[in-house]
Amino acid sequence: MRAQVVIIGSGPSGLLLGQLLAKAGIETIILEQKSRDYVLGRIRAGVLEQGAVGLLEEAGAAARLHCEGLVHEGIEIAFDGARRRVDFKALTGKSVTVYGQTEVTRDLMDARAAIGAPTVYEALDVSLHDLESERPKVRYVGREKEFDIECDYVAGCDGFHGVGRRSIPENVLRTYERVYPFGWLGVLVERPPIADELIYVNHVRGFALCSMRSMTRSRYYLQCRLDEHADDWPDEKFWEELTRRLDPDIARSLRTGPSIEKSIAPLRSFVAEPMRFGRLFLAGDAAHIVPPTGAKGLNLAASDVSYLSRALIDRYKTGSSEGLDAYPQKALKRVWKVERFSWWMTQMLHRFPESSGFDQKMQAAELDYLFSSKAAQTALAENYVGLSY
Ligand code: FAD
Ligand code: DHB
Repeated sequence: MRAQVVIIGSGPSGLLLGQLLAKAGIETIILEQKSRDYVLGRIRAGVLEQGAVGLLEEAGAAARLHCEGLVHEGIEIAFDGARRRVDFKALTGKSVTVYGQTEVTRDLMDARAAIGAPTVYEALDVSLHDLESERPKVRYVGREKEFDIECDYVAGCDGFHGVGRRSIPENVLRTYERVYPFGWLGVLVERPPIADELIYVNHVRGFALCSMRSMTRSRYYLQCRLDEHADDWPDEKFWEELTRRLDPDIARSLRTGPSIEKSIAPLRSFVAEPMRFGRLFLAGDAAHIVPPTGAKGLNLAASDVSYLSRALIDRYKTGSSEGLDAYPQKALKRVWKVERFSWWMTQMLHRFPESSGFDQKMQAAELDYLFSSKAAQTALAENYVGLSY
């Protein structure tokens, strides 16, 4: 088998890259270790920057998003009995779109199927070979047979646990990491959202987030301990705890119901450098993880893909590999800015188990400054909508 670009992973990074390359006439094969249904069953991010929406338009996969996505012009932050709005539209002229990652993935899968580009699901034991040569090879096991694909380039879009980053020799790869001492317990429920906009809550009992997927489906998160399991949280206990972390006036609007998904995600900041080894290029969670507090994971994956797709298209159109050579540095510049924002939001809004009295006063002072300073709110808004990168 042969393809110009082999893409490992059919998450949002891999699918979006595949679609942008296909539009430019570049042949791709996507190898995904899980089944299509498994990939579509994962509930993750929910907020898209305008840049990500623009890329989905370019990819020809934004029709449903424009019908069903909810445009949000601000968020609310609750702390110490007060709730303040950060008005993105007034401060930056931009807004964000609330549209679930599951739906983005489904739209991209449908667009790929419509152009007849191949995806191999349940491709096992994927391994990468000869990455420093001009003819890299990707090997996988499918239907109990081993297959080899020869290609020009490999895109590692296979998430944090994938094979892409692990194929970079240890003496080349540098990693930077912070693991946070808590997780997020997420619940999806078929009930209208508590409010028109997202509410981020810093409460003495821990962080909470009220989000949504549509006008009839809500997504809520609670900061939880790392040693807890979703099974430790029957629905009733979840709603009780969420109610305790909300101000009584807003808690009155909470519409509870049976959860349709419940899971715990650990929080981590992580960057791997460089994002390239020979003819392998990493994009998305394969190269970096942000804690979800700034709603950036999916958006950062999309911006990597935007740079990488342009560089590959340029390479095939003009023969120049200048764009590919510049990719790691260009992508990492943005990655570190987004890491900083996500780390800052996480520090400001969570309760850290070992924080001192001084740390807590600093956090309160940070929120006080944010609430009273237009400059601070503008900085938050610019980062949240993706304007400042
Ligand atoms: P992924 O979505 O991880 O896709 C990688 C794909 O590669 C997967 O389909 C995987 O099965 C496949 N794969 C892995 N290894 C192999 C292999 N060896 N061979 C073949 N295929 C392979 N972000 C937010 O902004 N807000 C959130 O609330 C949020 N919640 C999250 C919850 C969880 C549990 C996780 C893990 C992430 C969350 N994120 C969130 C982050 C966001 O979902 C990711 O940034 C986004 O999914 C990145 O897309 P990706 O395509 O790079 O990686
Ligand atoms: C959602 C997740 C986030 O991490 C975030 O900051 C906002 C919304 C969500 O899943 O809806």
